[in-house]
Amino acid sequence: MKIPRILIVEDNPHVLGFLNVVLEQNGYIPVLASDAENALRILALTPVDLTILDHRLPGPTSGLDLAKLIKRQDAGVPVVLITAHSTEGLAIDALEAGISDYFPTPFVIDDLLTSIRRLLASTGSQTFPTVTGTGNCSLGLIDEYRLVGQAAPMQAIRADIRKVAKTDSNVLITGETGTGKEVVAELIYKNSARASKPFVCLNCAAIPESLMESELFGYERGAFTGAYTTYEGKLKQGDGGTVLLDEIGDISLSAQAKLLRLLDKKTAQRVGGRRDVTIDLRVIAATNQDLETLMAAGRFRRDLYYRLNVTQISLPPLRDRRTDIPLLLQHFIGELNTRFHKRVRGISPVLIERLLQYDWPGNVRELRNIAEACLMGLDAGIINLIHLPHRYRDRLLDNRTDEKEAIMSALFSTQWNKSRAAQKLHWSRMTLYRKLAKYHILTSHSKIVTGTPVLSDNKV
Ligand SMILES: Nc1ncnc2c1ncn2[C@@H]1O[C@H](COP(=O)(O)OP(=O)(O)OP(=O)(O)O)[C@@H](O)[C@H]1O
Ligand SMILES: [Mg+2]
Repeated sequence: MKIPRILIVEDNPHVLGFLNVVLEQNGYIPVLASDAENALRILALTPVDLTILDHRLPGPTSGLDLAKLIKRQDAGVPVVLITAHSTEGLAIDALEAGISDYFPTPFVIDDLLTSIRRLLASTGSQTFPTVTGTGNCSLGLIDEYRLVGQAAPMQAIRADIRKVAKTDSNVLITGETGTGKEVVAELIYKNSARASKPFVCLNCAAIPESLMESELFGYERGAFTGAYTTYEGKLKQGDGGTVLLDEIGDISLSAQAKLLRLLDKKTAQRVGGRRDVTIDLRVIAATNQDLETLMAAGRFRRDLYYRLNVTQISLPPLRDRRTDIPLLLQHFIGELNTRFHKRVRGISPVLIERLLQYDWPGNVRELRNIAEACLMGLDAGIINLIHLPHRYRDRLLDNRTDEKEAIMSALFSTQWNKSRAAQKLHWSRMTLYRKLAKYHILTSHSKIVTGTPVLSDNKV
């Protein structure tokens, strides 16, 4: 997946700022330059997919001259010229210079966007993800939409779910925390022959070790102090159905012995009981622990492991399937929009780039949390760097470009009101002023009231 980068060369800060916002909101990465010299410096550092040039630029190099230089470096990059002084002669010169499209001002911004889309499509650069749907290749599973992911391992996992759902064998689901083990377990259940029977979820880590056996297998009246009545146990409640034993690595050794017997003989005895109780269950076990390590330490029975591990589904960490991040985000934004009655359309390409680089120790759960935290900051439009809650900034943003982007977004979205921009960034006004100086983002004194910015340095 590639997000197209568009270089804008324009000395008028109003036009530059306007184009920056419009392009970013339309899913592109704008790269800004105020003159030909800066533009060439940028091009030497980073390739771009399209360039928009103002014809009249400060300095000796005109827009047309710059277009020729750019074309000489890379003839394939489309160049769009904007000019306030359109003449027939200039139009002919533009054609000769290899300009792909030509916009005399004033122009309709939608026309420019249409042209950009067409030109990028013609060079094969328009490949950023669309913002609708989960992109799943459907296997016809019930509730398949809940497991978002197009990456090869996720497609294989959906195929595995379909396969094991048809059988009645036990399943072991492994994977780091937040990778979707519970989602997979539910899909297996919903697509199995036991779908109309009970589904019992037990989190073994949440049951104190001393209560583990009695919670799972029940107890007879009088089995221990406080056992005033007979209790059938959680597993019996799922009789005929499916049980998810989540965090199976935390199950006590005595409960492991009983579970093994249950899997072998379909019977169990309640605590304090002598009678065998029949329980028919399909067991799906899940864990984020390394069972091999637990077995080596004598904390997990190898024979139980083999009984559970008839089929294993191993979920990859999110950092190993980063291409799914935009899809997952869109899925969560859709869900959260419905839940909170919002109309958020997507995430800015700059923020997506940052999210793609992050390592995601909390996997999909962490991504979901970040999406939710960001969404709290706006009701509609595009989630931007400034919506990223403070606690995530240090983790996700770590370079000058990000901070500058965040400042620019805050300034644009507050019409250059520095107090409000500082608030949005959770900074004091003084901090904002310091950063404006650091990044050479100047605001002209005469226009402080209307808050017009002047970019003095557009290096990226
Ligand atoms: N592929 C996915 N598509 C959509 N949502 C997902 C996906 N994977 C996980 N989630 C969501 O992420 C969150 C965590 O998923 P889940 O509870 O299944 O993780 P887990 O692997 O069981 O984690 P843990 O080991 O901490 O119990 C849930 O909100 C779940 O809906
Ligand atoms: Mg879980």
